[in-house]
Amino acid sequence: MIPLDNLEKCSTHLDEHAARYLSPREFEEYTAISGSERSRQVRALLERPIAHFTIINEVYFRARWAEALRAVHPQQGLVLLEVASGDADMIPQMMARDFPHSRYLAANTNQKLTASLRTKTRAIPVDVAVIEGDAVAVGRHLAPESVDVVAFQHGVNDVLQAILCDQAGVDTTHADWMATLPRMIELVRREIDRNTFEQNLKPAFLALLEQLLKVLKPGGLIVMNHYMFQLDLDWGYPPALWENLIPIVRTWTKDIPVYREASVEGFAPQWWLFLKK
Ligand SMILES: C[S@@+](CC[C@H](N)C(=O)[O-])C[C@H]1O[C@@H](n2cnc3c(N)ncnc32)[C@H](O)[C@@H]1O
Repeated sequence: MIPLDNLEKCSTHLDEHAARYLSPREFEEYTAISGSERSRQVRALLERPIAHFTIINEVYFRARWAEALRAVHPQQGLVLLEVASGDADMIPQMMARDFPHSRYLAANTNQKLTASLRTKTRAIPVDVAVIEGDAVAVGRHLAPESVDVVAFQHGVNDVLQAILCDQAGVDTTHADWMATLPRMIELVRREIDRNTFEQNLKPAFLALLEQLLKVLKPGGLIVMNHYMFQLDLDWGYPPALWENLIPIVRTWTKDIPVYREASVEGFAPQWWLFLKK
């Protein structure tokens, strides 16, 4: 697979990023891992589908989003909306350190994960607001042209899976997301087998991007990233789709000419998509 990032760069900065982006308790967890094990984990993270969730992943993704946001929004005072965050808090954790006086917003439908995100972000020194609901309706909660960056942190797959569930009458709001994942993968496989993936998903996905366009400031960006989890592959996610999700949605987004793709140095187009309004 195409590596997520440059191994040498990531290894060189790992300790510095751990010191910057981890809490004291998390940093203790980090220092308990031997140097050789850290190197092994970084290499595995960048070069293979992710099979383990460790503190090294947290360090890497917090620092990586910091790098991405600095590249597209060098000034302070960031307003960022994350779509389909679940309870992943790497972006707000990073913003609390690198973008003080900023606003982190999340739009999230799943109730349990939304509650968990609220708990995780309660004490961090950044202004956090969690919108419990479909991101397609953010216009009801946010003023037009009020957001600098919309982030899909490994969220494209979640949005697409939720669209399929919606079409099939499978509840993803009150259900346990992980318990529903096998059914989601089944639905994804069915679309691929029938060759209807694009036909059934593209209109709803682009409708979401159209709505996000309204809350984005002129010159604002949608930033999407993706990486592979081994678990989804083990559970039958179609491998070519899992690996090529960003290239696939990139071709769809060309139907919304208001967005122009921005190329950001150091971010592989296989795993990142930057769309500028
Ligand atoms: C597994 S979690 C996401 C994890 C996170 N993206 C990550 O991997 O770091 C999936 C979440 O996507 C949310 N989701 C999917 N489609 C959504 C939509 N259209 N609007 C808001 N939330 C959505 C679900 O509610 C759920 O909380």
